[in-house]
Amino acid sequence: MSQINIAIFGIGNVGSTLIKQIAEYNKKTTSNTLNVFAIANSKLVLFENNATGGWSANFETKSTSYTLEDVYAFAKANSYKNLLAVDVTASSEFVTNYIDLVEHGFHIVTANKIANTLTYDFYQELRDILEVNQKKFLYETNVGAGLPIIETIKNLYESGEEIHKIRGVFSGSLSYLFNTFSEEEKSFSEILKEADALGLTEPDAREDLSGKDVARKLLILGREVGLTKEFKDVKIQSLVPAALNGKTTLSQFRESVKTLDPFFAESKSKLGSGEVLRHVGELNLKTSKLEVKLVQESKTTALGQTKGADAIFEIYTKSYGDQPLVIQGAGAGKAVTARGVLGDILKIATSLN
Ligand SMILES: NC(=O)c1ccc[n+]([C@@H]2O[C@H](COP(=O)([O-])OP(=O)(O)OC[C@H]3O[C@@H](n4cnc5c(N)ncnc54)[C@H](OP(=O)(O)O)[C@@H]3O)[C@@H](O)[C@H]2O)c1
Repeated sequence: MSQINIAIFGIGNVGSTLIKQIAEYNKKTTSNTLNVFAIANSKLVLFENNATGGWSANFETKSTSYTLEDVYAFAKANSYKNLLAVDVTASSEFVTNYIDLVEHGFHIVTANKIANTLTYDFYQELRDILEVNQKKFLYETNVGAGLPIIETIKNLYESGEEIHKIRGVFSGSLSYLFNTFSEEEKSFSEILKEADALGLTEPDAREDLSGKDVARKLLILGREVGLTKEFKDVKIQSLVPAALNGKTTLSQFRESVKTLDPFFAESKSKLGSGEVLRHVGELNLKTSKLEVKLVQESKTTALGQTKGADAIFEIYTKSYGDQPLVIQGAGAGKAVTARGVLGDILKIATSLN
């Protein structure tokens, strides 16, 4: 494999785990294939050849404020070829750098969903610029974290398979909430509090309950199979009551969380025997409809049988017939996400041979 020279942007949960995994990978292979030369957060960067070993202490003492021009200059001064930028930020602004990075010779791997969910014009412009500059852009972890969803769907689509529907529980936190609520005799607000204490929901659970994150993932899959949809085209059933939406503070939401209970108790009371509640994303290729909603699901289906905080994706195609291709497993978490990012990095490194 050719050496690939990597700048990592973001050193939070996923970024710091990724750096650790790259260090372990390099130790195992001794080939120095993955040379991390820049490690950055929003304000500071550490420039160092093979920076992963002891990076955290070095970041404390040696990091400096930076712009992307400094990153380009360091790469140039070291005559690095095969450049790769890894976006493991949670930033909506960082994606505005992608085109500049590509024009400065960088391939891009990202765990950040923003670039793929901005306007379709930007989505297409980025791909056009990647093509002109012969650069790669991989983002397997945008949907289902480390699960091989995007690659599978891309392979099916590009090989000409007729995809009819993609349906699933896309969010680990919403999976946990409804798997537990369907089975246990507890109120929804109690389960929500437990999920918060376990660190399964976002600090503000309304981000999960709004359905927007699932909608972003659905849009990414839709665009992967040729739809030119925008975020506004996704029909989202928000589970946040209008009175507790963005205009109320997080503490007001937490104080009033019991007001969510009647709606969910009623939804549960409507379940037939052998049914459970599931929060699903559904992409229907026949109607071009993208929907995020709460559904009554039979316990006998793969979706009805999910446990814990698992994500699950059912892919219905012509060849698979009535029995969908199913991919299931942890759909979030820093270790599986970082592993998925590393997988994308290695795919690019291999392709450069
Ligand atoms: N955690 C998961 O299970 C999971 C699964 C799939 C995808 N993802 C995605 O992975 C990404 C990272 O998630 P995380 O949980 O690691 O987030 P996090 O812990 O909040 O870390 C975010 C990191 O990004 C840095 N950052 C923010 N803006 C930046 C900028 N403009 N330039 C450079 N660095 C910047 C932050 O630095 P500062 O401290 O300076 O702000 C911080 O180091 C997110 O996009 C998330 O959606 C996460």
